[in-house]
Amino acid sequence: MKNIVVLVSGGGTNLQALIDAEKSGIIKGGRITCVISSNPSAYALERAKNNDIPTRVIPRREYSDSVSYSKAVLAALNEEKADLVVLAGFMTILDECVTNEYAYKIINVHPALIPSFCGEGYYGLKVHEAALAYGVKVSGATIHFVNEKADAGAIILQGVVDVQNGDTPEILQKRIMENVEWKLLPKAVSLFCQDRIEITDGRAYIK
Ligand code: GAR
Repeated sequence: MKNIVVLVSGGGTNLQALIDAEKSGIIKGGRITCVISSNPSAYALERAKNNDIPTRVIPRREYSDSVSYSKAVLAALNEEKADLVVLAGFMTILDECVTNEYAYKIINVHPALIPSFCGEGYYGLKVHEAALAYGVKVSGATIHFVNEKADAGAIILQGVVDVQNGDTPEILQKRIMENVEWKLLPKAVSLFCQDRIEITDGRAYIK
């Protein structure tokens, strides 16, 4: 069984999707062993506690820069013996001290079709605001490995939804979460835990 450590910052609906998937047997070969939050008041922490999952809080605001913060996260991941790290609405970019040591072992969910509307500054509702401002007719979410560049690691899975007339960022976010994120994130985690993701020339393929 692989140890899955989930990093969160907010509401934690993606964490909830992972918890539900583990309970219903969708995640094979792994279990969530710890939830780490960058935000002491994240509701995601309640979701973990309600399901008897150990939690840790490493507050981002207590660290002056990304490197010192990432070192603290790295120490926690090592202590937890993480086999897989899932960024589920984690709003802090991790330094390469973490991404190098956990190369191809960190999975992120990004709420757009990478390489559109991604990179530094694109997170949460800002992503959907940008997609609507551009006028794209489809959007979606991307599950990808995390490397030293924001939202630039190998893509594992992507899913698409239509953008509809009159969509607000909130409406589009909800459609993408319900139809793509909450389904594909648990699926990618399960594939990883069964060693079914292969890397060739920096790209990810499902076996
Ligand atoms: C999700 O839409 C996730 O894709 C996005 O934030 C939301 C978190 O929701 N993540 C990012 O923008 C990361 N760059 P949740 O806390 O309810 O899972």
